[in-house]
Amino acid sequence: MKSFRSKDPMVAYCVEHSIRLTDTQKKLNEMTMQHPRSRMLGAPESLQLNANLMRAIGAKKVLDVGVFTGASALSAALALPDEGEVHGLDHSEEYTNMAKPYWEEAGVSNKIHLHIAPASETLQKFIKNGQAGTFDFAFIDADKTHIDDYYEACLILIRSGGIIAFDNTLWDGRVMDPEDQTPDTVALKNLNVKLKDDQRINISFLNIGDGLTLCFKK
Ligand SMILES: C[S@@+](CC[C@H](N)C(=O)[O-])C[C@H]1O[C@@H](n2cnc3c(N)ncnc32)[C@H](O)[C@@H]1O
Repeated sequence: MKSFRSKDPMVAYCVEHSIRLTDTQKKLNEMTMQHPRSRMLGAPESLQLNANLMRAIGAKKVLDVGVFTGASALSAALALPDEGEVHGLDHSEEYTNMAKPYWEEAGVSNKIHLHIAPASETLQKFIKNGQAGTFDFAFIDADKTHIDDYYEACLILIRSGGIIAFDNTLWDGRVMDPEDQTPDTVALKNLNVKLKDDQRINISFLNIGDGLTLCFKK
Protein backbone atom coordinates (compact mmCIF):
# COMPACT_ATOMS: atom_id res chain seq x y z
CA MET A 1 0.00 0.00 0.00
CA LYS A 2 1.20 3.52 -0.78
CA SER A 3 2.93 4.95 2.30
CA PHE A 4 0.55 7.92 2.54
CA ARG A 5 -2.36 5.46 3.04
CA SER A 6 -0.53 2.79 5.04
CA LYS A 7 -0.80 2.37 8.81
CA ASP A 8 2.08 -0.14 8.91
CA PRO A 9 4.71 1.16 11.38
CA MET A 10 7.49 -0.51 9.36
CA VAL A 11 6.45 1.42 6.26
CA ALA A 12 6.35 4.62 8.33
CA TYR A 13 9.85 3.86 9.65
CA CYS A 14 11.24 3.34 6.13
CA VAL A 15 9.62 6.57 4.92
CA GLU A 16 10.91 8.51 7.90
CA HIS A 17 14.43 7.25 7.26
CA SER A 18 14.62 7.63 3.51
CA ILE A 19 12.15 9.94 1.80
CA ARG A 20 13.68 13.21 0.67
CA LEU A 21 11.30 15.75 -0.84
CA THR A 22 11.98 19.33 -1.80
CA ASP A 23 9.62 21.99 -0.43
CA THR A 24 7.96 22.17 -3.85
CA GLN A 25 7.41 18.40 -3.92
CA LYS A 26 5.87 18.58 -0.43
CA LYS A 27 3.55 21.39 -1.57
CA LEU A 28 2.53 19.47 -4.70
CA ASN A 29 1.74 16.39 -2.59
CA GLU A 30 -0.26 18.47 -0.09
CA MET A 31 -2.25 20.07 -2.91
CA THR A 32 -2.91 16.64 -4.46
CA MET A 33 -4.05 15.13 -1.17
CA GLN A 34 -6.93 17.66 -1.21
CA HIS A 35 -8.03 16.36 -4.63
CA PRO A 36 -11.00 13.94 -4.76
CA ARG A 37 -8.81 11.51 -6.72
CA SER A 38 -5.79 11.81 -4.39
CA ARG A 39 -5.43 8.01 -4.41
CA MET A 40 -3.83 8.37 -7.84
CA LEU A 41 -0.86 10.32 -6.44
CA GLY A 42 2.40 8.41 -6.99
CA ALA A 43 3.84 6.97 -3.76
CA PRO A 44 6.94 8.96 -2.73
CA GLU A 45 8.88 5.74 -2.05
CA SER A 46 8.22 4.50 -5.61
CA LEU A 47 8.95 7.86 -7.27
CA GLN A 48 12.18 8.23 -5.28
CA LEU A 49 13.34 4.76 -6.31
CA ASN A 50 12.56 5.63 -9.95
CA ALA A 51 14.56 8.86 -9.60
CA ASN A 52 17.51 7.02 -8.05
CA LEU A 53 17.46 4.46 -10.87
CA MET A 54 17.40 7.32 -13.42
CA ARG A 55 20.49 8.79 -11.77
CA ALA A 56 22.19 5.38 -11.63
CA ILE A 57 21.78 4.73 -15.35
CA GLY A 58 22.55 8.33 -16.35
CA ALA A 59 19.07 8.83 -17.81
CA LYS A 60 18.48 11.86 -20.00
CA LYS A 61 15.19 11.06 -21.70
CA VAL A 62 12.20 9.78 -19.71
CA LEU A 63 8.60 8.78 -20.49
CA ASP A 64 6.02 9.57 -17.81
CA VAL A 65 2.87 7.73 -18.89
CA GLY A 66 0.11 9.16 -16.67
CA VAL A 67 0.94 12.60 -15.27
CA PHE A 68 -2.05 13.55 -13.04
CA THR A 69 -0.91 16.50 -10.84
CA GLY A 70 2.72 16.07 -11.86
CA ALA A 71 4.45 14.32 -8.94
CA SER A 72 6.22 11.64 -11.02
CA ALA A 73 7.21 14.11 -13.75
CA LEU A 74 8.59 16.52 -11.15
CA SER A 75 10.55 13.80 -9.39
CA ALA A 76 12.01 12.64 -12.73
CA ALA A 77 12.87 16.16 -13.89
CA LEU A 78 14.73 16.84 -10.63
CA ALA A 79 16.81 13.69 -11.20
CA LEU A 80 17.82 14.52 -14.77
CA PRO A 81 20.69 16.71 -15.89
CA ASP A 82 20.02 20.20 -17.32
CA GLU A 83 19.64 18.87 -20.86
CA GLY A 84 17.26 16.11 -19.69
CA GLU A 85 13.75 15.65 -21.09
CA VAL A 86 10.67 14.25 -19.39
CA HIS A 87 7.85 13.50 -21.82
CA GLY A 88 4.59 13.52 -19.85
CA LEU A 89 1.64 11.71 -21.48
CA ASP A 90 -1.89 12.33 -20.24
CA HIS A 91 -5.29 12.97 -21.77
CA SER A 92 -6.37 15.39 -19.07
CA GLU A 93 -5.56 19.06 -19.36
CA GLU A 94 -7.49 19.68 -16.16
CA TYR A 95 -5.10 17.51 -14.10
CA THR A 96 -1.88 18.50 -15.82
CA ASN A 97 -2.66 22.23 -15.52
CA MET A 98 -2.56 21.72 -11.75
CA ALA A 99 1.04 20.51 -12.05
CA LYS A 100 2.45 23.45 -13.98
CA PRO A 101 2.90 26.02 -11.15
CA TYR A 102 4.89 23.44 -9.17
CA TRP A 103 7.14 22.53 -12.12
CA GLU A 104 7.68 26.27 -12.61
CA GLU A 105 8.50 26.84 -8.93
CA ALA A 106 10.99 23.94 -8.99
CA GLY A 107 12.71 25.45 -12.04
CA VAL A 108 12.22 22.33 -14.19
CA SER A 109 9.42 23.41 -16.57
CA ASN A 110 11.92 23.59 -19.42
CA LYS A 111 12.63 19.84 -19.02
CA ILE A 112 8.98 18.69 -19.01
CA HIS A 113 7.18 18.28 -22.34
CA LEU A 114 3.46 17.55 -22.05
CA HIS A 115 1.58 15.53 -24.67
CA ILE A 116 -2.16 15.83 -24.13
CA ALA A 117 -3.77 12.89 -25.98
CA PRO A 118 -4.57 9.23 -25.37
CA ALA A 119 -1.22 7.77 -24.29
CA SER A 120 -1.27 4.97 -26.91
CA GLU A 121 -1.51 7.57 -29.69
CA THR A 122 1.43 9.57 -28.36
CA LEU A 123 3.60 6.47 -27.94
CA GLN A 124 2.81 5.32 -31.50
CA LYS A 125 3.61 8.84 -32.75
CA PHE A 126 7.02 8.68 -31.04
CA ILE A 127 7.72 5.30 -32.67
CA LYS A 128 6.68 6.59 -36.11
CA ASN A 129 8.79 9.73 -35.84
CA GLY A 130 11.97 7.76 -35.23
CA GLN A 131 12.37 7.84 -31.44
CA ALA A 132 12.69 4.05 -31.00
CA GLY A 133 15.56 3.17 -28.66
CA THR A 134 16.11 6.80 -27.59
CA PHE A 135 14.47 6.79 -24.12
CA ASP A 136 16.28 5.66 -20.96
CA PHE A 137 13.40 5.19 -18.55
CA ALA A 138 9.60 4.86 -18.67
CA PHE A 139 7.16 5.05 -15.76
CA ILE A 140 3.82 3.48 -16.72
CA ASP A 141 1.09 4.80 -14.44
CA ALA A 142 -2.02 5.52 -16.54
CA ASP A 143 -5.18 3.46 -17.13
CA LYS A 144 -4.73 -0.29 -16.65
CA THR A 145 -6.77 -1.68 -19.55
CA HIS A 146 -4.20 -0.42 -22.09
CA ILE A 147 -1.22 -1.39 -19.94
CA ASP A 148 0.04 -4.10 -22.32
CA ASP A 149 -0.07 -1.65 -25.27
CA TYR A 150 1.97 0.82 -23.19
CA TYR A 151 4.46 -1.92 -22.33
CA GLU A 152 4.98 -3.05 -25.90
CA ALA A 153 5.36 0.54 -27.15
CA CYS A 154 7.75 1.46 -24.33
CA LEU A 155 9.85 -1.65 -25.02
CA ILE A 156 10.38 -0.26 -28.53
CA LEU A 157 11.09 3.28 -27.32
CA ILE A 158 13.49 2.33 -24.50
CA ARG A 159 17.15 1.62 -25.24
CA SER A 160 18.85 -1.60 -24.30
CA GLY A 161 19.88 -1.19 -20.64
CA GLY A 162 16.96 1.15 -20.02
CA ILE A 163 14.21 0.57 -17.47
CA ILE A 164 10.41 0.36 -17.58
CA ALA A 165 8.71 0.76 -14.19
CA PHE A 166 5.05 -0.16 -13.67
CA ASP A 167 3.05 1.28 -10.79
CA ASN A 168 0.13 -0.50 -9.06
CA THR A 169 1.18 -4.05 -9.94
CA LEU A 170 -0.24 -5.24 -6.59
CA TRP A 171 -3.45 -3.18 -6.99
CA ASP A 172 -4.20 -3.23 -3.24
CA GLY A 173 -3.79 -7.02 -3.33
CA ARG A 174 -6.64 -7.50 -5.80
CA VAL A 175 -4.29 -9.23 -8.29
CA MET A 176 -4.17 -12.15 -5.83
CA ASP A 177 -7.96 -12.52 -5.77
CA PRO A 178 -9.12 -15.15 -8.30
CA GLU A 179 -12.69 -13.84 -7.94
CA ASP A 180 -11.78 -10.33 -9.10
CA GLN A 181 -12.46 -10.29 -12.83
CA THR A 182 -12.85 -6.51 -13.22
CA PRO A 183 -11.10 -5.25 -16.38
CA ASP A 184 -8.37 -3.29 -14.55
CA THR A 185 -7.52 -6.20 -12.25
CA VAL A 186 -7.52 -8.70 -15.13
CA ALA A 187 -5.20 -6.45 -17.15
CA LEU A 188 -2.76 -6.26 -14.22
CA LYS A 189 -2.94 -10.02 -13.54
CA ASN A 190 -2.22 -10.73 -17.21
CA LEU A 191 0.69 -8.27 -17.20
CA ASN A 192 2.22 -9.85 -14.08
CA VAL A 193 2.01 -13.32 -15.65
CA LYS A 194 3.48 -12.09 -18.93
CA LEU A 195 6.40 -10.19 -17.35
CA LYS A 196 7.51 -13.15 -15.22
CA ASP A 197 8.70 -15.07 -18.28
CA ASP A 198 9.33 -12.28 -20.79
CA GLN A 199 12.85 -12.97 -22.00
CA ARG A 200 13.22 -9.47 -23.47
CA ILE A 201 13.71 -8.12 -19.95
CA ASN A 202 15.12 -8.86 -16.52
CA ILE A 203 12.61 -8.25 -13.77
CA SER A 204 12.21 -7.22 -10.14
CA PHE A 205 8.76 -7.08 -8.55
CA LEU A 206 8.86 -4.95 -5.42
CA ASN A 207 6.36 -4.78 -2.60
CA ILE A 208 6.65 -1.03 -2.16
CA GLY A 209 3.88 1.49 -2.66
CA ASP A 210 1.05 -0.29 -4.45
CA GLY A 211 3.55 -2.67 -6.10
CA LEU A 212 6.34 -1.49 -8.39
CA THR A 213 7.60 -3.79 -11.13
CA LEU A 214 10.93 -2.93 -12.71
CA CYS A 215 11.76 -4.25 -16.17
CA PHE A 216 15.38 -3.95 -17.30
CA LYS A 217 15.49 -4.15 -21.09
CA LYS A 218 18.13 -6.61 -22.32
C1 LIG B 1 -2.48 7.32 -11.38
S1 LIG B 1 -2.58 8.82 -12.28
C2 LIG B 1 -0.88 9.24 -12.56
C3 LIG B 1 -0.16 9.62 -11.27
C4 LIG B 1 1.18 10.27 -11.47
N1 LIG B 1 2.09 9.41 -12.22
C5 LIG B 1 1.78 10.65 -10.14
O1 LIG B 1 2.94 10.30 -9.88
O2 LIG B 1 1.12 11.29 -9.31
C6 LIG B 1 -3.14 8.28 -13.87
C7 LIG B 1 -3.22 9.37 -14.93
O3 LIG B 1 -3.41 8.70 -16.19
C8 LIG B 1 -4.24 9.49 -16.99
N2 LIG B 1 -4.85 8.62 -18.01
C9 LIG B 1 -5.79 7.66 -17.82
N3 LIG B 1 -6.08 7.05 -18.99
C10 LIG B 1 -5.31 7.64 -19.94
C11 LIG B 1 -5.16 7.45 -21.34
N4 LIG B 1 -5.85 6.50 -21.99
N5 LIG B 1 -4.29 8.24 -22.00
C12 LIG B 1 -3.58 9.18 -21.34
N6 LIG B 1 -3.68 9.40 -20.01
C13 LIG B 1 -4.54 8.64 -19.31
C14 LIG B 1 -5.23 10.14 -16.04
O4 LIG B 1 -5.75 11.34 -16.59
C15 LIG B 1 -4.38 10.35 -14.79
O5 LIG B 1 -3.88 11.67 -14.76
